[in-house]
Amino acid sequence: MARLHNFSAGPALLPLSVVEEVRDNLVDFEGSGLGAMEYSHRSKRFDAVVASAQERLHRLLGLADDQEVLFVHGGAKSQFYFIPMNLLNGGQATYLDTGVWAKLAEVEANRYGTANVPFSSAQWNYNRVPEAGEWGALPDGTAYLHYTSNNTVAGTQYQYTPESGDVPLICDMSSDILSRKIDGSAYDLIYAGAQKNLGPSGLCVVVVRKGLLERCSPDLPPMLSYKVYSQKGSMYNTPNTWAIYVMERVLAWIEEQGLDAVEARNIAQATRLYDAIDATDFWQGRAELGSRSHMNPTFSTGTPELDTEFWQWAEQGGLVGLKGHRSLGGLRASMYNAQTDVAVDALISAMQEFERTRG
Ligand SMILES: Cc1ncc(COP(=O)(O)O)c(C=O)c1O
Repeated sequence: MARLHNFSAGPALLPLSVVEEVRDNLVDFEGSGLGAMEYSHRSKRFDAVVASAQERLHRLLGLADDQEVLFVHGGAKSQFYFIPMNLLNGGQATYLDTGVWAKLAEVEANRYGTANVPFSSAQWNYNRVPEAGEWGALPDGTAYLHYTSNNTVAGTQYQYTPESGDVPLICDMSSDILSRKIDGSAYDLIYAGAQKNLGPSGLCVVVVRKGLLERCSPDLPPMLSYKVYSQKGSMYNTPNTWAIYVMERVLAWIEEQGLDAVEARNIAQATRLYDAIDATDFWQGRAELGSRSHMNPTFSTGTPELDTEFWQWAEQGGLVGLKGHRSLGGLRASMYNAQTDVAVDALISAMQEFERTRG
């Protein structure tokens, strides 16, 4: 079976070697006679998978001993309310509004307290992230600073870690986690839906500083309480064992490659695509230069009809997922860790061919 070149924003393509490995283990997990999806979450074998996934995340994210990795249900969107439910308690927090997902997080915060928004790029159609400190001083009593490191829809990305002083720093890293080396110990809470760089959808990785758990509201339903996830080792109820297993294999793949090598490949691929966009007046990049995402380059011909013609034509040639998000239109090529150089070459050739025939 020929695999298509997949530029989808998520669920996204996974490393082929991992897909093949988990396919085999779906039937018989490492010769044990049971399939990987059929193991009890209370079994020794699954315990080892969870421990390995947590250790790998600790190493890859450069976490400190006082940080804990939780596996939480409901994807990244659930974290938009988990966070204020657990940590806001009627107080105020600061949200940087850089796109659709950042905005939704802010909306949820206002249910449980007040979201202050000192920076928004909505007026520029979300084509940039703030420069360091552009949001000004955080008011006294700010419970946390929330930002979205990579804006999947708009195709913008922070190339630095915001400074929040004593105020806890919270980041939605759904679409660029482990695409580059970071100092994970600088964050008080990181969350990431798994379906881009980590594995199957539905699972959310949450890294929380243990001290922050003490602030968690005590009156929450257990399934919505970080404290309960922590106390019960993310197994208060039955976790998504399959998703955790697949993620553990993806993390092993990243460690085998080396995060430096993964980051270098991501930058090289994005640079090649942006160079192709910038090489001609036919294509226009959507994001401001300093805010361009290495994960989700967004671009356009400048004409909605021609954009549609391009992604439909590209699809016939085996390049799928290039249609921009419905809220902003245009085109988007998502290039997560598993994206191949062959696919990026094919995309650039298709763009050149399209320009030659339609330009
Ligand atoms: C940055 C970001 N945050 C949150 C979400 C929502 O994730 P989920 O569908 O897992 O709830 C997405 C989805 O694409 C995203 O890109």
